[in-house]
Amino acid sequence: MKITIIGTGYVGLVSGACFADFGNNVLCLDVNARKVEMLKDGRIPIHEPGLDELVRRNAAAGRLSFTTSYDDAVEHAEVIFLAVGTPPDEDGSADLTHILAAARSIGERLTRPVVVVDKSTVPVGTADSVRKAISDELDRRGADISFAVVSNPEFLKEGAAIEDFMRPDRIVVGSDDEQATKLMRQLYAPFSRNHDKMIEMDVRSAELTKYAANAMLATRISFMNELANLAEVLDADIEAVRLGIGSDPRIGPHFLYSGMGYGGSCFPKDVKALLKTSKDHGCTLHLLSAIETVNETQKGVLFEKIVRHFGGRDELAGKTIALWGLSFKPNTDDMREAPSLVLIRQLLQAGCRVQAYDPVAHAEARRILESSSPESLSSGQLAIVASSTEAIDNADALVLVTEWKEFRAPDFGLLAKTLRSKAIFDGRNQYDPAIVREAGLRYYGIGRRNPWRDQ
Ligand code: UDX
Repeated sequence: MKITIIGTGYVGLVSGACFADFGNNVLCLDVNARKVEMLKDGRIPIHEPGLDELVRRNAAAGRLSFTTSYDDAVEHAEVIFLAVGTPPDEDGSADLTHILAAARSIGERLTRPVVVVDKSTVPVGTADSVRKAISDELDRRGADISFAVVSNPEFLKEGAAIEDFMRPDRIVVGSDDEQATKLMRQLYAPFSRNHDKMIEMDVRSAELTKYAANAMLATRISFMNELANLAEVLDADIEAVRLGIGSDPRIGPHFLYSGMGYGGSCFPKDVKALLKTSKDHGCTLHLLSAIETVNETQKGVLFEKIVRHFGGRDELAGKTIALWGLSFKPNTDDMREAPSLVLIRQLLQAGCRVQAYDPVAHAEARRILESSSPESLSSGQLAIVASSTEAIDNADALVLVTEWKEFRAPDFGLLAKTLRSKAIFDGRNQYDPAIVREAGLRYYGIGRRNPWRDQ
């Protein structure tokens, strides 16, 4: 099938490469010429395991190409995917500027029937707006060309996006057009193989499904984070509780990990957007707004523990804190809404020196911090260093922020010798508190049994 993907961000690029890998002829368009040049050279602007290889292989086979030309992109396609960004507006609603601009660009050029697929996460009703934007352009040209707009939200997890795309749990297709549904079935047949993964529904339900999925997952995380804080007060252990409840099939074991709060490009943005949509329609989602509040609070929980450990905020000035991990989760260089940024800000404000290391996100982190905390970087109060060992050099305490594999089994003996105040703050509950304590270190986790009671 001849497919055009508009937007070579995370979703567009992964979708394009995966469709091409199944033998489709895919043309990816981006308005950013620099990005398109990079992609043509086989350089991938984001870090996603396996994506480099997939893009290069399919580009070399002539099934995947890149362009900045809307003329070529529209001319190419039987199916056009919209995978442009929908960043949050100031009021939290999804900004549809890019998606509607793309729709108009399609309408300006369409010469034969096409199926337009919304893959970007968009508020309920956006497919109608896209349909109208295309129709208006066709009317303006006096062109009578049939087209359909369907909703096909993505459920990719960063770091596992290719696997998620190639072996999806489900493929949600919202369509009010029989022919378009048939075409989507055909396109996704190789991804469904022996099991029919496609769930068909009306367009609006598909649009809402995406937000509902992310809101539900965010709910589980905020619930566990709140419970973790209670467990600490009660001297119970959230990890034991997690295992205890997760074994109930009605609850299930996934997404029950308490930590530093959820970050990334989806949960924070989608929770906000859903709250805004509900408000616009006169509904109040009490639960969802609490989920957001809990998450914001959770991003500050580790800092409070650090303050308590050192005996008060005033004691923090001049202390050196090592951070392991900066990205919002492992296997990505994505720093969007990363809890590390909140912690860094708090530590710097309290006068700490911060030595941070991330195996992949260091460049992206530096780019962001250069605009948010330029003085701290230039004065050396904040240093992004080249190794986990360099991060702990001369440090008072260590904070595990992102659970990258290389941080999973550190030499606790060495840490006990190196860290002046002999403390580890484990923002991801990765370490066994007993092992850490045995090495002579103080262990602070999230919702673990209260360490200062038995030490
Ligand atoms: C998410 C959804 O999982 C995906 O389906 C959707 O398409 C996009 O948003 P992603 O943002 O890549 O994917 O990351 P995910 O692995 O879901 O993690 C999101 C955040 O929640 C991370 O900050 C992670 O650390 C946190 N998290 C996740 C927890 O704190 N606890 C958990 O149990 C799981």
